[in-house]
Amino acid sequence: MMLMGSKNIICVMFYVSLSPLFIRWTLAVGNSHDDPHSLDDFVHNYAQKRVKLPHTGTLYNISLPSNYSGIGVSFVRLRSASFWARGTNISSSFHIPPRIIPMPFVKRLDIVFQNLGNWSTFYYNVPNYTFVAPIIGLTIYSGDTNSSVNHSQMLNVSLHGNPILVNFLSISIKDSDNATLQCVRFDKNGTVEFSNVTTRNLCTFRDQGHFSIVVPLLQPPIVIRKREEKWNWKWWVVVFGTAVGGSGVLVLVGILVWKLVRMKRIKGMEKQAEKSEALGTVWVGRSRMPSASGIRTQPVLEDDYIP
Ligand SMILES: *[C@@H]1O[C@H](CO)[C@@H](O)[C@H](O)[C@H]1NC(C)=O
Ligand SMILES: *[C@@H]1O[C@H](CO)[C@@H](O)[C@H](O)[C@H]1NC(C)=O
Ligand SMILES: *[C@@H]1O[C@H](CO)[C@@H](O)[C@H](O)[C@H]1NC(C)=O
Ligand SMILES: *[C@@H]1O[C@H](CO)[C@@H](O)[C@H](O)[C@H]1NC(C)=O
Ligand SMILES: *[C@@H]1O[C@H](CO)[C@@H](O)[C@H](O)[C@H]1NC(C)=O
Ligand SMILES: *[C@@H]1O[C@H](CO)[C@@H](O)[C@H](O)[C@H]1NC(C)=O
Ligand SMILES: *[C@@H]1O[C@H](CO)[C@@H](O)[C@H](O)[C@H]1NC(C)=O
Ligand SMILES: *[C@@H]1O[C@H](CO)[C@@H](O)[C@H](O)[C@H]1NC(C)=O
Ligand SMILES: *[C@@H]1O[C@H](CO)[C@@H](O)[C@H](O)[C@H]1NC(C)=O
Repeated sequence: MMLMGSKNIICVMFYVSLSPLFIRWTLAVGNSHDDPHSLDDFVHNYAQKRVKLPHTGTLYNISLPSNYSGIGVSFVRLRSASFWARGTNISSSFHIPPRIIPMPFVKRLDIVFQNLGNWSTFYYNVPNYTFVAPIIGLTIYSGDTNSSVNHSQMLNVSLHGNPILVNFLSISIKDSDNATLQCVRFDKNGTVEFSNVTTRNLCTFRDQGHFSIVVPLLQPPIVIRKREEKWNWKWWVVVFGTAVGGSGVLVLVGILVWKLVRMKRIKGMEKQAEKSEALGTVWVGRSRMPSASGIRTQPVLEDDYIP
């Protein structure tokens, strides 16, 4: 554990210089503007020009021209025999296991490592996914200076042992985001290969290529939130408007009903009043008719008068 730890600390230094740039390109889900193959060719040729007579087994840092500032490149030449027997470790980012056979056969290999940093989305993209780690490239060329094998052509490799381990030293996503991390490998023929992460920032691959970690692109959250806000705002206006309009109508209806009720009551009272006021009128249909009460002052006979 102690050994692993100290090793990691030393090796972290290799890529750490690019880590502040990560945030930038995770926000910019880019279209790839340029052909990544032309970059690979450029980097490989440039590395060979810069290091004319490389010592086998020595890792060289190549600084690219300033118009490529932000891309990290390293380069190592190895004997095929030792590569087959022992593999190689490049910083803590790459563990290349033994038993890898490059095709066609060459005596020496040139291995080129790239860290595209903030250029990752300039050259690569995965539809509906976002990079959370920079693109790291591992490409293997012939290291034989005098050989029939085209020097600028990538070799094919076949793995007969363990897979290549790629450790992404910094991924720009929080644990709490619960996103499903996926390893991706871009093959030189343009295909994208997905695989599960081994641990949070460790991927295994069975071929060379360009590697990264992606998460599913959530439907652009900012846009959705804005739309929701707008919708909510409109919705509230509608609700408020309906409420105001509705209550207005209710008030009107209420007034009408109240007036009707009052009118009825008044009429009823009128009727009542009229009924009780005098026996002189009676309702016939709609008309008030004078009526004679059946009770009259009874005629009193004078005879009856008994003093
Ligand atoms: C390569 O560059 C890294 C920084 O990017 C540095 O830490 C390392 O020492 C360099 N290695 C060599 C061999 O120059
Ligand atoms: C950078 O400059 C080199 C020449 O130094 C040129 O070949 C290459 O196309 C340029 N690349 C970009 C991306 O500007
Ligand atoms: C690479 O690292 C692994 C584990 O860290 C180790 O077992 C292996 O021997 C190393 N290979 C070389 C060539 O240093
Ligand atoms: C990456 O960052 C460097 C500065 O560190 C800048 O010069 C370069 O233009 C950036 N590249 C891209 C593609 O944004
Ligand atoms: C990306 O997502 C959109 C919408 O969900 C879908 O229509 C499209 O086919 C997807 N693209 C790919 C390459 O999967
Ligand atoms: C390079 O190869 C050619 C033939 O393919 C041969 O004649 C020549 O001697 C070789 N040079 C070296 C330095 O091996
Ligand atoms: C992630 O999962 C944990 C537990 O499953 C939960 O508490 C947390 O809210 C989740 N975070 C997000 C951003 O969904
Ligand atoms: C690309 O290469 C991979 C193997 O590296 C292969 O599985 C795939 O079918 C190839 N795709 C195309 C389009 O040639
Ligand atoms: C990848 O992980 C998912 C669940 O996280 C699992 O269902 C799937 O089988 C895994 N694929 C492989 C190839 O292990």
